[in-house]
Amino acid sequence: MAKITTSTLIKMKQNGEKISTITAYDASFAKLFDQAGIHAILIGDSLGMVLQGENDTLPVTIEHMAYHTKSVANGVENTLIIGDMPFMSYATTEQAYVNATKLMQAGASMVKMEGGAWLVDTIKCLVERGIPVCAHLGLTPQSVNVFGGFKVQGRDADKANEMIEHAKQLEAAGAQLLVLECIPTSLGKAISDAISIPTIGIGAGKDTDGQILVMHDALGISYSYMPKFSRNFLIDTGDIKKAVELYISEVSNGNFPGSEHIFE
Ligand code: KIV
Repeated sequence: MAKITTSTLIKMKQNGEKISTITAYDASFAKLFDQAGIHAILIGDSLGMVLQGENDTLPVTIEHMAYHTKSVANGVENTLIIGDMPFMSYATTEQAYVNATKLMQAGASMVKMEGGAWLVDTIKCLVERGIPVCAHLGLTPQSVNVFGGFKVQGRDADKANEMIEHAKQLEAAGAQLLVLECIPTSLGKAISDAISIPTIGIGAGKDTDGQILVMHDALGISYSYMPKFSRNFLIDTGDIKKAVELYISEVSNGNFPGSEHIFE
């Protein structure tokens, strides 16, 4: 497999090929996922919950993220590596470029930030300085206290239209990828149709350009509970590499997510 870049993912969207993405936090899993043919690995700040046993992602620091990004980068040959910017590490544009630099120097090829139009200037600044950006809309877990819990977002028409508008502004600012988390299937489709950069869904329905799962959910070893939008691929295969290969093929042929994994 050739090295995967942001251009590869954009071409996949144009060709209607589904993108498979998973989280990883260390070199061994990253190597296995890379060899299985995953298109992108996110070192998610979900590590606060699945590795550290926290109730949410807020305690995660940029030092934690840089440490795990370096570990993943050591295991990867071809997969695109996305480093997640933790809570309050991009509250200002200055903080964003200082902290994004730490993830890029640890081996990321792109950084991810949660939020809508308020990120426009920050995205422009990072992209102009050579740091590709993945944006993240919907249930953005760093805002769990604003949402009053981990709740599906964008169910009413005004909020849905607002999210479509934010997606367009993030693309115009230079974002090259967009994660959509826990939104109705119809909104996942509307956003994916409205922008030309790839959308990667998690609980966002079948019509996004790709899917992402937290590796612990995909392998049925989650610390707390199994979210509705996930599936245990290890149960069907009994082997971690085969489980990830099955995940990739089920995303590719449209069997995952199934109707039991989506929100209306
Ligand atoms: O932190 C994370 O793992 C994420 C994914 C769930 C998209 O942001």
